[in-house]
Amino acid sequence: MTIALGVLASGRGSNFQAILDAIHQGTLDAIVKVVISNKADALVLERSRSHQIPGIFLDPKPFAQKENSREAYDQAVGQVLQEHRVDAVVLAGYMRIVTSVLIRQFPWKIFNIHPSLLPAFPGLHAQRQALEWGAKVSGCSVHFVTEGVDEGPVIIQEAVPILDHDTEESLSERILKREHEIFPKALQWFAEGRLSRDGRRVSLIHSV
Ligand code: GRF
Repeated sequence: MTIALGVLASGRGSNFQAILDAIHQGTLDAIVKVVISNKADALVLERSRSHQIPGIFLDPKPFAQKENSREAYDQAVGQVLQEHRVDAVVLAGYMRIVTSVLIRQFPWKIFNIHPSLLPAFPGLHAQRQALEWGAKVSGCSVHFVTEGVDEGPVIIQEAVPILDHDTEESLSERILKREHEIFPKALQWFAEGRLSRDGRRVSLIHSV
């Protein structure tokens, strides 16, 4: 089934680009209906518009004064996603915490990519955390989004070695290459209806 995706992103959008590339190459059966960003100048918005995909800046500022500002913002995000009739939501470098408002609207249909082997190094600067810890291996994880930050059940992970002379930049770059492979792959499994979940354990249903 072709899945209609909504992408939430805050930055340069290289994962969004990898998703588009996979769609164009025919390895991901999906269509990106809309990209929403909380940053007006995010490169991801330029990328989406250059592909004739609506790129919407949704300013968090007017929501900041409201009570439950994060939920109110997510209400607005959810509305845009519904208007564009998306089936699933992709967080591709989205620097906001998603609330239950959105999670309830798209149960088990929100996906995130994180640049570490979760549950190691959740949160910000995962690559820096791995270096500072002195880990010898890190990597990336695609997981379902739940209310705990970077805590949802893992769908796929890829390990990446940490080399003696690595800097945050060189490690991030090596991990990013793997991110670009596993994110479209996980989404394709979802599109094929091949993801099965038992509690936290996600397994891949093998096609016959
Ligand atoms: C990636 O490292 C991703 O794992 C993290 O944020 C970064 C986004 O990069 N969540 P990009 O905007 O997709 O290039």
